[in-house]
Amino acid sequence: MTARFEGRNVLITGAGNGIGRGMATAFAAEGAHVWVTDLKRETAEAVTQDLTASGGNCTAHTLDVTNPQDVATLLAEIERVDGRIDTLINNAGLNVRADFRHLSDDDWQTIRETNLDSLIRISRDAFSLLKASEHASIINLASIMAKRGLRQLVAYSATKGAVVSLTRGMAVEYAAFGIRVNALAPGFVETALTDRILRNPAMNKALVDQTPLRRLGTTEDIANAAMFLASDHATFITGETLTVDGGMSIGL
Ligand SMILES: NC(=O)c1ccc[n+]([C@@H]2O[C@H](COP(=O)([O-])OP(=O)(O)OC[C@H]3O[C@@H](n4cnc5c(N)ncnc54)[C@H](O)[C@@H]3O)[C@@H](O)[C@H]2O)c1
Repeated sequence: MTARFEGRNVLITGAGNGIGRGMATAFAAEGAHVWVTDLKRETAEAVTQDLTASGGNCTAHTLDVTNPQDVATLLAEIERVDGRIDTLINNAGLNVRADFRHLSDDDWQTIRETNLDSLIRISRDAFSLLKASEHASIINLASIMAKRGLRQLVAYSATKGAVVSLTRGMAVEYAAFGIRVNALAPGFVETALTDRILRNPAMNKALVDQTPLRRLGTTEDIANAAMFLASDHATFITGETLTVDGGMSIGL
């Protein structure tokens, strides 16, 4: 049986931890060449060492998504080595916890630049590399928080709402060039990002109780959804945000 992504080039931002790492692992296991990028080189390298040890085809790169020079350097390197990107996964994201009334301009700027501005820059500047692929698609990491409110996640939610809108708009423009654009809206997945919320036993239980499928998400759940959207099983799907939350956001 042929691996699903044999010969495909997949670029993942923020792939050193959590969901990004899970997606890098899944795509590498299915034969893709994965460009594992993260803010810190050591983090990206730790992932590629693990993946290479289990036969994966991947390379580690430093990429601060908020740094235009980093983006330009990486895209030039991809142009030189592979000449195209088949799947671009805009995964890097963060939250700075603060009650909205105390949110500083600096914190808002950090959240916005990481979760939103970077996604615009990379998706725009990677256009010619995506256009060169016969299987091109972009997957943006949104969140169920795009449509929900939670204390200390106000600015984060605003950026994720914008990611959903951006996904639709980009999908319309890029369709003419054979590039699909979709988003994933995970529920709660245990990673460094959610550690503080999920470490609280009462909060953890409340979130599980609120989820019809009675568990939190895993990085594998999100990676499986990403592989579906990137695959030839999804060639008529674009502009869509796929919720992966065990039903949390549709329950009462
Ligand atoms: N964990 C969840 O429950 C959850 C739910 C919904 C959406 N998401 C989204 O999924 C994505 C991944 O989240 P996660 O939970 O894996 O987080 P995480 O904190 O575990 O990992 C995020 C990764 O992004 C990297 N990163 C941060 N800033 C960066 C920058 N400027 N440039 C490059 N890399 C940077 C970090 O170094 C880290 O490796 C985020 O966009 C997040 O908003 C997560």
